[in-house]
Amino acid sequence: MRTRGFGIDFGGSGIKGAPVDLEQGDFAAERLRIDTPDPSTPEAVAEVFAELLSRFPSDGGPVGVTVPGVVRHGVVHSAANIDKAWIGTDADALFTRATGRDVHVVNDADAAGLAEVRFGAARGQGGLVIVTTLGTGIGSAFVYDGVLVPNSELGHLQIDGHDAESRAAASIREEENLSWSEWAERLTRYYRTVEMLFSPELFVVGGGVSRRSELFLPLVRIQTPTVPATLENRAGIVGAALYAATSA
Ligand code: BGC
Repeated sequence: MRTRGFGIDFGGSGIKGAPVDLEQGDFAAERLRIDTPDPSTPEAVAEVFAELLSRFPSDGGPVGVTVPGVVRHGVVHSAANIDKAWIGTDADALFTRATGRDVHVVNDADAAGLAEVRFGAARGQGGLVIVTTLGTGIGSAFVYDGVLVPNSELGHLQIDGHDAESRAAASIREEENLSWSEWAERLTRYYRTVEMLFSPELFVVGGGVSRRSELFLPLVRIQTPTVPATLENRAGIVGAALYAATSA
């Protein structure tokens, strides 16, 4: 496998990219951020990717990109929190055309999962690791003995008649002004359901809020060992680069 890659993290407010050292699991140069265009249609986003890539010297290698939706064979199949125009878009083909690079798209939580298992909080952990990202929505990654089982989409489990992420995402804590302990109650309900269904060896909790994990993780009452993610905002970029390097 290559030792250098490039990852792009496509988020609701910013598009961030950096070359990645695939042996260390870290950025190989400073990350660059460009505002996400509004509306964030696939074509508008593709232009930003081309602009972003043009600011770095190219080694011609593959580029990984995260997308907050279901991705199969480069085609985006869902768009819970992004422009609906993404549904049905062959993102691999569009981005490859727009950038002249070999682009591989991966679900954002799956990218974070790959990165955490290879380089972060779940390094060396065998069996089933479930990485969840708590942000605007809830993302999830299933990694079994280091191998990703993509598109698990556990943020959309139906729990108590609700789409789980509409009750327990980090954005909901802010919107509904929940205290940390009120939010932890919802997370307990959520993670208990997931552990009952899948009995993982380990949960890794990521997303921006994981930087403040001491405020809520100790209040989440579940059996499964649970640790905060360690790659923080590098997980998407590093995981995307890793995904592309192994898919190319
Ligand atoms: C989407 C997932 C995504 C997650 C986190 C969910 O609403 O369905 O694909 O991974 O949000 O962004």
